[in-house]
Amino acid sequence: MRHLLPLLAFAACATKSPMTTTSSAPPLDPHSHAQPDRVRTQHLDLDLTIAMHEAGGGSVHGRATHTIERLDPSAPFIVDWKALTLGSVTDQAGRPLTATFGPPDENLGMALSIALRPDTAKVVIDYTTTDEGDAIQWLSPEQTNGGTKPFLFTQGQAILTRSWIPLQDSPGIRISWAARVVAPAGLVPVMSAIERGRDGSAFTFSMPKPVPPYLIALACGNLVSRDISGRCAVWAEPKTIDLAASELADMEQMVQACEQLFGPYRWGRYDLLILPPSFPFGGMENPCLTFATPTILAGDKSLVSLVAHELAHSWSGNLVTNATWRDFWLNEGFTVYLETRIMEQVFGKDRATMEVSLGMQSLAAEMKTLPAADQVLHIDLTGRNPDDGMTDVPYQKGAAFLRRLEEVFGRAEVDAFLQRWFDEHAFTSVTTATFVQFLQRDLFTKDPAKAAQIDVAKWISGSGLPGDAPIPTSTLFAAVDTQLAAWRAGKTAGELATKGWVTQQWLRFLAGLGAPAKERLADLDMAFAFTRSGNSEILCAWLGTAVRADYRAVDRRLDLFLMTVGRRKFLKPLYEALLATNGGKERALAIYQRARPRYHAVAQRTLDAMLGYTPR
Ligand code: BES
Ligand code: ZN
Repeated sequence: MRHLLPLLAFAACATKSPMTTTSSAPPLDPHSHAQPDRVRTQHLDLDLTIAMHEAGGGSVHGRATHTIERLDPSAPFIVDWKALTLGSVTDQAGRPLTATFGPPDENLGMALSIALRPDTAKVVIDYTTTDEGDAIQWLSPEQTNGGTKPFLFTQGQAILTRSWIPLQDSPGIRISWAARVVAPAGLVPVMSAIERGRDGSAFTFSMPKPVPPYLIALACGNLVSRDISGRCAVWAEPKTIDLAASELADMEQMVQACEQLFGPYRWGRYDLLILPPSFPFGGMENPCLTFATPTILAGDKSLVSLVAHELAHSWSGNLVTNATWRDFWLNEGFTVYLETRIMEQVFGKDRATMEVSLGMQSLAAEMKTLPAADQVLHIDLTGRNPDDGMTDVPYQKGAAFLRRLEEVFGRAEVDAFLQRWFDEHAFTSVTTATFVQFLQRDLFTKDPAKAAQIDVAKWISGSGLPGDAPIPTSTLFAAVDTQLAAWRAGKTAGELATKGWVTQQWLRFLAGLGAPAKERLADLDMAFAFTRSGNSEILCAWLGTAVRADYRAVDRRLDLFLMTVGRRKFLKPLYEALLATNGGKERALAIYQRARPRYHAVAQRTLDAMLGYTPR
């Protein structure tokens, strides 16, 4: 049944009228019901009223006004719809329009098909969000740092926006938008746009550039901001703002580094919001306002590559966007590559090389667990949740592909190529085929001998890591490896030469420990106090190793971590480690039962499947 709509859309595509050739029709997206080649939104006006319960939970009442472009005058307007309650659907004059729902799909939700009159130019949908929607996480005061006010944030990527705004939820469909938000008294709403003004508890925002729907985002809570530069600020709860501002003091420098390499920053402001710890991701590149986990605040700037990453998406991802989720590597692979370049510029080559090396190590480990079809950059996600494509493959293999281009063609050549890629495709959504064509035309034809050294099809459609993937060498890691070998040969922690090691070196060390006896972990813990580490990456790596070795001195720390941190990247390996121990399933489930209500729906989905947990 699910295939019916896309097939129809394809037929419509094939017979489209000459009119449609002016605005190029986006490619088929198996993750949206919209038929943008017939009727598509150009601009969206949102009127949102937030109702928050003191103890957590709440709802958003919304009015979404779509200004539409009608390429096929006889076609209905189809929006994606999930877990919303419908109020009314009217045209620009307030006259009711007939709306019908298609069959539900677990991942995609439903199609809401709206019949249009000949003179319909705007469609106004009145709706309310429900508790079943996955896009909004409602936090109780205890889940915030301040502990006194509730909090909410939305997460749109990949296909969650439809569960808080009825719209054509495909990354190939770009719209400008504006919003008026009425927040509960005393709370401050922020959005992935430019704030235009406030009037009491009503705030207005606008995004004049066309963006894909997954980049519309809202957060609301007890928030304050601190300027870093004329165009950069950090937002956080009052209790977090000092730490956030000092940790993120290099934001402006990072923006300048990326501008110097890849062209102007085109979004006006670049702000960053530190969310409460239940945020399921490290970061989310919402335009003008990156959303980030507080677990990057290590106190020594050692985890700020995440900021470089989300900032880099202002070029790869937000300016030039994957047209469908199978092109996700164009967003993430490019972004990891740009991230490394920013890090090299601002923090030096040693740091950047270590980070590349850790990424490749993580890729190698994950590859072993993935079926061949999932080791492919241009992955087929039809019939699956696009979230399943969020592995190291699009990130690290994608970045390795660009490093391979750099190795063969030289840095200057590839930098210029990338800058042209961004310039010529600015504010559009692109497929893998578009990139391959551009690569051939803009880079490969310049030097066929060099081009012959790169097997593009193998990189993009093959599984595994191609043998010509550049492997970084780090002298700082060589030093770690020497100590690891000594430790494996029997040296005690106190005998190791670890003076001056930075976070990335400790991460290399922890990744190389393997599965030691718990007595040896106690010795390491005594010397290096890993269990008390305030660095979330070090702590997570350590806790995983400790669980696997049944080193139970970490139990209280582990429990606290799993009860407060909702970042899926950390939760997954820790629950996995628990599951792999004797009697671990019961232990994992006991913790999960308590912690689950605090996790975001996307983390719950992953962990439910992993733990075989059926809610209710
Ligand atoms: N855009 C992603 C987050 C994302 C991807 C959310 C797919 C939903 C679906 C973001 O830019 C990202 O990659 N975050 C990483 C951190 C980064 C430093 C690798 C994360 O959250 O782990
Ligand atoms: Zn990313």
